[in-house]
Amino acid sequence: MYEGLLKQYQEYLPITEKTPQIALAEGNTPLIPLKNLSKELGINLYGKYEGLNPTGSFKDRGMVMAVAKAVEDGAKAIICASTGNTSAAAAAYATRAGIKAYVVIPDGKIAMGKLAQAIAYGADIISIPGNFDEALKAVRDIAETEAVALVNSVNPYRLEGQKTAAFEICEQLEKAPDVLAIPVGNAGNISAYWKGFKEWHEKKGTDLPRMHGFEAEGAAAIVKGEVIEEPETVATAIRIGNPASWKLAEAARDESNGYIDSVTDEEILNAYRKVAAQEGVFVEPGSAASLAGVIQHVENGRIKPGETVVTVFTGNGLKDPDTAINETDIKINKMSDLEDMRRHLREGVASL
Ligand code: F0G
Repeated sequence: MYEGLLKQYQEYLPITEKTPQIALAEGNTPLIPLKNLSKELGINLYGKYEGLNPTGSFKDRGMVMAVAKAVEDGAKAIICASTGNTSAAAAAYATRAGIKAYVVIPDGKIAMGKLAQAIAYGADIISIPGNFDEALKAVRDIAETEAVALVNSVNPYRLEGQKTAAFEICEQLEKAPDVLAIPVGNAGNISAYWKGFKEWHEKKGTDLPRMHGFEAEGAAAIVKGEVIEEPETVATAIRIGNPASWKLAEAARDESNGYIDSVTDEEILNAYRKVAAQEGVFVEPGSAASLAGVIQHVENGRIKPGETVVTVFTGNGLKDPDTAINETDIKINKMSDLEDMRRHLREGVASL
C-alpha cells in the first residue's frame, strides 16, 4: 500500500526514527498525457496533476515534511503566510499531528475553496490588510520571537518534500522531460523541482530538463528584475511581488538553460479553460500559468516541435469556484418537464 512520500523516498529525505508519521498518502500523483493539446501544439505534453494531493495542491508534499520535522523538534504550533493553498495544507497536517496552525492570509484575495479548507481543518485564521508579501514578512518576524515554527517555503524542509515531484516525473517517464513548465509565485516550487531533478540524475542518470517558469504579468518580479509593490492577477495563488526564493529560482533557470517569463491574465484564463474543455482536467488559474507559458513558448520557439514537456498543474480547479463561474460562459438549460428534456436531447444528439 502506498503510504506517502516520506516512506516512499525516505532515503532521499532528512528522516530519522523520531520523525512522526503524519502521512495522508500525499504524492504519487498522475502524469496525464495531454493528447489533444499535444497534437495541437506539436509536442509530447504531459500534465503532472498535483491537484490530486489530499488537500488539492502540491503544498502537501512540502508540508508533510515541514510539519513532521517541526513536531520532531518539539513544536506545538506552526505559522505560515499564504495565498490559500499553503494555509490549507498547513492546517490539515497540523491537525494530523495534533498541533495548532496559525495561518495569515491577505484580506479578500484568497479563493473560497481554500478558505473553506482552513476553516474545516480547524486552523486559527488571521487576515491582514496587506498582500502576501506583507503577510510573509509579518510571520517571519513573529516566528523570531514566538514559540511557533515557520512553515513557509523559506523553511528548507518544505523544498525537501516538494522535490519528490521531480523524482516521480522521472520514474513515470523513465527519463527527465526536455522541458519542465511550472508556475512561479514565491519561487519555492521551481527551486524544489530543480533540486529534485539534479539529485535523481546524480543517482539514476535520468538527465536534466530545462526549467521554464512562469510568473503572472502583474506579479512578474523576477522577469522585471524588481520588487512589485502591488502585485495583481486573476491567479491569486501567485499574486506575489517579492518572491522569497528569487535567487534559487534564477539559479534553476540559469543552470538548466531555461527561462522565467510572464504570462498575461488573458493567457492564463485561456489555458485554464482549454485544459478543462479539451482534456477534462480542471486546474486552478495559478496552475494554468504553466500551460499558458507552454503555449507561448511553442509559439516563440523556446519549446521545439516534438519535445517532451511536463506542465505542472499545481492546484485543483475546485479550489476556486468563483473564477470558474465568473470567467466562463455559463449555459444552463432549464427544462420544465421530461418532454422538454427529451426534445432538447433529440435536437442535440441529431446534430452530433
Ligand atoms: N500554484 C499554486 C496553485 C500555488 O498555490 C502556488 C503558491 C504556486 C503555484 C507557486 O508556487 O510559491 O512555490 O512559486 N502558493 C503559495 C500559497 C504562495 O500560499 O499557497 P511557489
